[in-house]
Amino acid sequence: MSIIKLFDFNVMGDDRGQLVALESMKNIPFEIKRVYYVTKLDSKKPRGFHAHKKLQQLVVCLRGSCRFIMNNGSEIADIWLDVFNQGLMIDKLVWHEMHDFSEDCLLLVLASDYYEELDYIRDYEEFKKLVCPLVICEV
Ligand code: TYD
Repeated sequence: MSIIKLFDFNVMGDDRGQLVALESMKNIPFEIKRVYYVTKLDSKKPRGFHAHKKLQQLVVCLRGSCRFIMNNGSEIADIWLDVFNQGLMIDKLVWHEMHDFSEDCLLLVLASDYYEELDYIRDYEEFKKLVCPLVICEV
């Protein structure tokens, strides 16, 4: 199974514009407890560089584009996000990095829990130690 899990959301559009609805346990595979957004990004300043112990997240690039690198210890893949009705799942124990933001990039993130710094794994060596017993580590 690929580490890149994309969700295509239904667009309800007409001549007045486009509307997309995101609903817990319907088109989003978890209960949404937190929503945050990231904008005014700098293409030279990548973000992320962490994994989460338990948190599940789904990110939508509402405007512009950026490149995500996803790494679960056995697979690394990258993907451009540039479609407002497509969500990328960031599951627990996936090291993720965000690169190459366009000037107008606006990222919306839905999260399964409240902000908790203790849920972060920010050290890559610690991440590898955690995932390597579970998978054959190739990264
Ligand atoms: P971080 O998750 O490290 O950002 P990124 O993954 O985009 O590089 O968060 C940046 C800072 O914001 C960090 O100090 C934690 C804080 N923060 C909150 O207080 N609440 C939140 O919901 C999030 C996502 C981050």
